Amino acid sequence: MQDAIATLPKVELHLHIEGTLEPELMFALAERNGVELPYASVEDVRAAYQFHDLQSFLDIYYAGARVLLTEQDFYDLTRAYLERCQADHVRHTEIFFDPQTHTERGVAFATVIDGIRRALADGERELGITSRMILCFLRHLSADAAMETLETALPWREHIHAVGLDSAELGNPPERFQAVFDRARAEGFPAVAHAGEEGPPEYIWQALDGLRVARIDHGVQAEQDPALMERLARDRIPLTVCPLSNIKLCVFDRLEDHNLKRLMDAGLCVTINSDDPAYFGGYVGENFRATAQALQLGPDDLERLARNAVDAAFLEPEAQQRLHGEIDAWRARLAD
Ligand code: ADE
Ligand code: ZN
Repeated sequence: MQDAIATLPKVELHLHIEGTLEPELMFALAERNGVELPYASVEDVRAAYQFHDLQSFLDIYYAGARVLLTEQDFYDLTRAYLERCQADHVRHTEIFFDPQTHTERGVAFATVIDGIRRALADGERELGITSRMILCFLRHLSADAAMETLETALPWREHIHAVGLDSAELGNPPERFQAVFDRARAEGFPAVAHAGEEGPPEYIWQALDGLRVARIDHGVQAEQDPALMERLARDRIPLTVCPLSNIKLCVFDRLEDHNLKRLMDAGLCVTINSDDPAYFGGYVGENFRATAQALQLGPDDLERLARNAVDAAFLEPEAQQRLHGEIDAWRARLAD
């Protein structure tokens, strides 16, 4: 099974590029840029990664991002992630980036996006991994700030596939961002949103009916609302579930208690993703391995998860067909 998981062709749809900042790179960039860190060593950083909810993580995550200053920093960050993707047989990835985390510190939007997209272009050429970029608005900041960010981004529109909504969920409902998502849709961007990670099913309804999202990021709280479960199944709205993240942020006590398999069994289009792998103890391959073990997933479940992610990706039908073909070949090898 371990080998089957390792070689399963994967698509990752929920990954914050700032969440791939490993402590080693954090230290290297701090030194390169003359930024003081509140940690004495890499071990010290890892020891600080004890979270009790989303906010306790976000405080440390935004502090870590302070070492990212130059285009080369964003390039190096993204390149390191793509090399992890290659090791995990990730064939396509859709990457969130949070421009406001950087523009608020005086880093230009161009610095952020140019570094990431240069690494993604090199990654496609050299590693054969295709990608999309999703611009996320920080929901703990104002709706006006989100609108300003969208306007700043428009000159780079050809490089941005969709918009998203992340950061502190509780108290920041999707409806607060209606105007910016309306504007993004008018500009031709599809949308996704974090909803139902810690927040109530009502936030998922708002993301669906108000923001008109194509996918829900997390969405695990949907299980509390049978009508919502029916809607998600009927419209085949993908959930980008992040099992190890949910454990680290205490959404579930233990991986054995995670509802991923129940969501699948209820007919929902569930996918497995890593969220912020440098902080949560594993990239997408490790999320598959740990979840398969804890929930006793078999080859049919793994195949379903992989195909769901292909179907949920912002890819042309021909590219989706190619990836389904790779999964066919994986399945055929398993049968041998
Ligand atoms: N930003 C980075 N990771 C996040 C998460 N798990 N939830 C909300 N915002 C985030
Ligand atoms: Zn996330």
